[in-house]
Amino acid sequence: MCGIAGYIGHKIADQVLIVALERLKYRGYDSAGMAVVRDGEIHLRKAAGKLKNLSERIEAQPVVGRCGIAHTRWATHGAPTETNCHPHLSTDGRIAVVHNGIIENHEVLRRELKDQGCIFASETDTEVIPHLISTLYDGDPVAAVRAAIARLDGQFAFAVVFADQADRIVAARKGSPLLVGRGKKEMLLASDVPALLPHAQEVMFLEDGHIADFNADEVRICSFDGAAVAPRFKPIEISADAVSKGDHDSFMSKEISEQPEVLLRLIESRLRAGRLVEPDLGLDLAEVNHIVFLACGTSWHAALLGKRFLEHLARVHVEVDISSEYRYRNPIASGGTLVVAISQSGETADTLAGLRLARAKFIPVVGLVNVVTSTIARESNGVMPLMAGPEIGVASTKAYTAQIMALYLFALQVARAKGLLSQPEEARAIVSARAIVEHAARTLAECEDPVAEAADIFTSADATVFLGRGGEHPTALEGALKLKEIAYVHAIGYPAGEFKHGPIALVTRQLPVICIVPRDAMYEKMLSNLQEVRARSGRIITVGQAGDRSLADLSDHVFPVRMAPDDLLQPILSILPLQRYAYHVARRRDCDVDQPRNLAKSVTVE
Ligand code: AGP
Repeated sequence: MCGIAGYIGHKIADQVLIVALERLKYRGYDSAGMAVVRDGEIHLRKAAGKLKNLSERIEAQPVVGRCGIAHTRWATHGAPTETNCHPHLSTDGRIAVVHNGIIENHEVLRRELKDQGCIFASETDTEVIPHLISTLYDGDPVAAVRAAIARLDGQFAFAVVFADQADRIVAARKGSPLLVGRGKKEMLLASDVPALLPHAQEVMFLEDGHIADFNADEVRICSFDGAAVAPRFKPIEISADAVSKGDHDSFMSKEISEQPEVLLRLIESRLRAGRLVEPDLGLDLAEVNHIVFLACGTSWHAALLGKRFLEHLARVHVEVDISSEYRYRNPIASGGTLVVAISQSGETADTLAGLRLARAKFIPVVGLVNVVTSTIARESNGVMPLMAGPEIGVASTKAYTAQIMALYLFALQVARAKGLLSQPEEARAIVSARAIVEHAARTLAECEDPVAEAADIFTSADATVFLGRGGEHPTALEGALKLKEIAYVHAIGYPAGEFKHGPIALVTRQLPVICIVPRDAMYEKMLSNLQEVRARSGRIITVGQAGDRSLADLSDHVFPVRMAPDDLLQPILSILPLQRYAYHVARRRDCDVDQPRNLAKSVTVE
């Protein structure tokens, strides 16, 4: 959580840093601050609440300087107040620090530093860092940072500026991402690539255990024990357009609309001459006989579908684990086991910890990630990229449907490796996958009006139930998660057949019950479950085929979806109206769909 930015160059630092924070606010947005070095002093600007509060403060009190660091916060230690907001200063105000991560031994250090006369202003764990560095600083910033790091437990990425070093930023990484961007006579620092744009043309990913010490022209890297490391930059491949809203009012809306093109790009990336390419994962898929999916949130919902695909197509035994549970178990490592870590960001702390646990047990790990430069990608034995492009909205949308498609294609690859997929079957599956692209575009267009109309009617409903069976149970879970996280409506997703075992007691005339009823093997069963809700006067919204009379007769509202040629792929289409529904309800309730309260895009804390 939290976003870090830094700038040294010929431009006015505060202006560059505000844009960088804007691009990082998906990582946290409960307060923001900046420290600029000028005339031998550190000038601090902070504001609680959204980033615009900081922009307004800076506009009212500009700080014209060429070197600065900045931070957007997702609170862990201490409420999101102005005092707790970063940067934090040493007692003499000569050293400022921004930090992402958690300093686990902060209480011990705080006591010790207070005994040495340091005066603490905030409740944060971070504040020990500037105080610690100041007690160790004798004019050599890197030496002081290295000595401070030797005392810090936990994970961190932090950046430091010194009042007496007008043209220098020192940054360190242990566990949280940090990147240095190089432009023309300017150098930037950030937690993620988009924040380096458009100034930097090249990027260097700082490794765990490394320190970067840079000015506008040059960067020096060393390890925590002081050994020099050669910096390795590579060109930045994403454009500033990819991280803008375009014609949309929100990133979420833009990202929902991008799904057809994302799916097409993903499918094409996995094909050569019309056939599935052998994934380069450094292992023989034919020998895999047990797969464990690790994931959180939306990625976990995709994993539930991955299990269906692999069991159905490749006859492999699959377990789906919530990462935060897996990491504290004692999983069995047997030959033929493969762990697949699914994560849009590739930075989710719990999934990363699960990956490390698996690797410690010599279980090979494949990362299914959107951000290919992420820690999960780098620490996995093999990587399957999602190709979804930057996903900025906190609510995952395009990454979810890309995950489902990627898992379907992976299941086909495993099935083929095991001799369970003939060439004609493979060809048919590819046709089915390709057909989803057009169906997704049509579904998005056709569901829009009915979805908006239902959102008008149910804006004030204080709870909503989502029901689905088989492959649509994960859709129900995901539809409920979207509505909860961006519209703050209490929602549950339930397997429709299980509803009568208790939760059906919730049904009243006021309760919207959204049932996902495609024309699949579960169709008749779902109609019976619908009848059960109807008999108790629930308000029924169905996600189903346009023109389905039986469905229309039982429903108050129908969200039309196209039917996938292969039932396995239907959940990619069924979720689309539910993403739009959550979006419309959230807008009508005046919620910020891109930055819902209490959340952050990358959950890099436990
Ligand atoms: C999705 O809408 C959520 N914001 C959240 O559940 C997310 O999917 C989860 O935190 C996992 O993130 P990851 O895919 O980046 O690991």
